[in-house]
Amino acid sequence: MSSILVASSKGGCGKSTLSTHLAAHFCVQGQRTALVDLDPQGSSLRWCQRRTEWLPAPVAIDGTQERWHKAMPEDVQQVVIDAPAGSTPDTLKSALKRVDVVLVPVLPAPFDLEATAMFLSALSRVPRVSSGELPIALIANRVRPNTQASQRALAQLHDWPYPILAELRDSQSYVLLTALGKSLFDYGNEVAQEQQALWQGVFTYLRKLERRSKSAKD
Ligand SMILES: Nc1ncnc2c1ncn2[C@@H]1O[C@H](COP(=O)(O)OP(=O)(O)OP(=O)(O)O)[C@@H](O)[C@H]1O
Ligand SMILES: [Mg+2]
Repeated sequence: MSSILVASSKGGCGKSTLSTHLAAHFCVQGQRTALVDLDPQGSSLRWCQRRTEWLPAPVAIDGTQERWHKAMPEDVQQVVIDAPAGSTPDTLKSALKRVDVVLVPVLPAPFDLEATAMFLSALSRVPRVSSGELPIALIANRVRPNTQASQRALAQLHDWPYPILAELRDSQSYVLLTALGKSLFDYGNEVAQEQQALWQGVFTYLRKLERRSKSAKD
């Protein structure tokens, strides 16, 4: 089983959009997936409820319940955990003990960079992170490649000591699809494929981590 925590202290940076897309991707790949929503707002849980029955769906787990781990089926292969805004390493303590990687979405804008830098700095003091056991990676979200604001912010992000796995576009597809309980990974048309291609860095990175952890166990 491999577990991904999608987290940032910053609100509205795309945690639930990324979490639901990751979960949908794993489901479409045929992997038994659980989507845990730690946020009382419940965006990811409601996305699961909206997902139509003919699409592969993750097991939806309400992570605000104290004993949510008990709801995790034993045969789950992929776990995606969606954290709420305002999270700190302290409020995420239990998740940070279990997950294999933390993905931090960040919008390419000054306030977002500032808040994310503080969150990353706090995370870097978590023993599993400082020892190198728990990797942290960034996903730039809502990028507008043709704007100077995005370019400037991305240039700053590239100076940070964390890998940037993807630069996802600012696109209404995410808004429309999540409203329907769907994701880009549920479609095979050309437009969807173009956007899916921007996620490849994320999946390559996750596969590499999985291989590394398997060979460490062998
Ligand atoms: N790449 C994108 N392009 C366009 N809109 C996006 C994109 N990613 C997210 N959004 C929109 O931005 C808003 C915030 O996204 P989302 O709810 O995923 O963020 P969040 O970090 O989970 O927010 P919260 O902190 O409230 O939990 C939503 O309306 C979502 O549809
Ligand atoms: Mg959310």
